[in-house]
Order: sequence, then structure tokens, then C-alpha cells
Amino acid sequence: MEQHIQAQVQDYYGTELQSSNDLKTNACCTDDIPAAHKRILAQLESEVLEKYYGCGVCIPSAVEGLTVLDLGSGSGRDAYLLSKLVGEQGRVIGVDMTEEQLAVARRHVATHTERFGYQQPNVEFRHGFIEDLHSAGLANNSVDLVVSNCVLNLSTDKAATYREIFRVLKPGGELFIADVFSDRRVPEALRQDPVLYGECLSGALYIEDFRRLLRELGIRDYRLTAQRRLTIGNAEIERKVGNIKFYSLTVRAFKLDLEDQCEDYGQVATYLGTSPTSPTVLP
Ligand SMILES: C[S@@+](CC[C@H](N)C(=O)[O-])C[C@H]1O[C@@H](n2cnc3c(N)ncnc32)[C@H](O)[C@@H]1O
Repeated sequence: MEQHIQAQVQDYYGTELQSSNDLKTNACCTDDIPAAHKRILAQLESEVLEKYYGCGVCIPSAVEGLTVLDLGSGSGRDAYLLSKLVGEQGRVIGVDMTEEQLAVARRHVATHTERFGYQQPNVEFRHGFIEDLHSAGLANNSVDLVVSNCVLNLSTDKAATYREIFRVLKPGGELFIADVFSDRRVPEALRQDPVLYGECLSGALYIEDFRRLLRELGIRDYRLTAQRRLTIGNAEIERKVGNIKFYSLTVRAFKLDLEDQCEDYGQVATYLGTSPTSPTVLP
């Protein structure tokens, strides 16, 4: 674990950035927000929204009643969105290593609990490191869904992080992330640049290394549900990264013993629109 990089990331999100206006690139931004999410976001406290630094939509449909873990929950924007979507019988645990981010998320628990009409909070924010989820008290096989929005690229030990994800997921559980990936390995000199790393660029995994990493953990099949080329929007940083292409990818993978390739003999499945938030598209 490279503790100096981890300390720089804590400083970046705890002190350097006060709101998304302070970001130096446009790597952290989200478009195509589903209408159902927009309605819930309109109910969230402005401080939570202003400190949102995600890069995609990493919440699947039909999450009611689930226990969800949000890795790198930041100011709590996705955790509160999930708090509403899982309903009062569901549960959301946000984990983050930066005290300032946790403080913002925690101060709005009571307000949102009341606003959603719940008797008890169904969301909590724990201090911890995603490379060692024991640090946040997470037991084996205890979580239905792990989400993470623009965070795993910041991990300084990606193998440990993904190992932990599949440790805490229940059998059959799902990983659903939006994150930054690259089309080639990022050189070490760029990894050591605190702004490039903090902006979620130079810690990005080369997509083929991601595939290999999951395979080593026994996850042989993952699905890409959205992808967007990142434009950066900062001439100096564009010059530094040169030809490296960065993408925001939305990826889902399951803790299931799936085959590496689907057997395909032309099967057809018809979705009957039974999920309330997805009347036309398979959730
Ligand atoms: C780009 S922000 C995204 C925050 C949030 N997911 C959102 O969408 O607004 C990254 C967050 O991940 C946290 N983080 C980065 N590395 C971490 C690690 N190794 N363990 C725990 N949290 C981490 C940071 O403290 C920061 O709050």
C-alpha cells in the first residue's frame, strides 16, 4: 500500500476540493441520470449534492430490501439515493477514509430519514479503507450489492480492494460500479502526480488488467452497461497524459460461478416490464 498516495487522496477530497466546481478536469461528471433518480436527488440536501464527485450511474434497478455497500461514499449522494430506493426494510452502508467527507455525509442522516418518512435511519457512514473492509467491520458474505462511483481507481492496492469486494458479497451478490479505466497502463511518473491521481485519472486500471484481476478472483464474466470517453478539458493535463485514453465505464459483475463465454444458440428472452422503475428495459 502506498500510504503517501493515500494521504494525498485524503487531502485532495478533504481539503483541496470544497465542491465539484474545484475539480480541475471533467473526469468526475455524470450525464444520463434516470428520471426516477432525479426525483430523489431533488429531495437531497444541497451540501451533499455540491460535494458529489462521481462519474456515472452505478445503481441497478430493483434494489428494494437489499443491503448495499457504497465504497468511497464521499458526501453521501449515492448512499442517500439508495437509502430511498432500498426502502425502509433495506440498508445502506457507506465507507470512506476521509473524515471531512464522512462528516458531511453524517450530518444529514436525520434530515433525510425524516424526509423519506422512515422511523429509523437505514443508512450509516463508516470510516474505513476499501482495501481492508474489516476496518469498517464488514463480515464475509454479508452484502447483497456493492456499488462504487469513481473511487476504485483511487485505490493503491486494486487486487486487495477487489478481493475484499468479493469477500463481503453474499453468494449471488452483485458488484455495480462506475469508474475510470484506461486503454493502456498508465506510466509510474503520472501515477505519482497528485493532481492527476486525485482527479481519478492516473490511478485508472488498464481495462485488460481489470479483466485479468477479476478472472484471478474467479469472476470470469463481467458486463459493460455504459461507456463514455473522458475529454479532460484541461490543456496542461491533456499534454501530460498524451495518447492515453480514459473512459468512464459502468460495469456489473456477480459473485457467481459463471462460464467465461455464453453458450449462444439464438435464445431469446422477453422482458415483461415487471420492474416498476424499468417498464421497457430489462433492469
Ligand atoms: C471521487 S470521490 C467520489 C465520492 C463519491 N462516490 C461520489 O460519487 O461523490 C472519491 C472518494 O473515495 C474516497 N476514497 C478514495 N480512496 C479510498 C480508500 N482507499 N478507502 C476509502 N475511501 C477512499 C475519498 O475519500 C473520496 O471521498
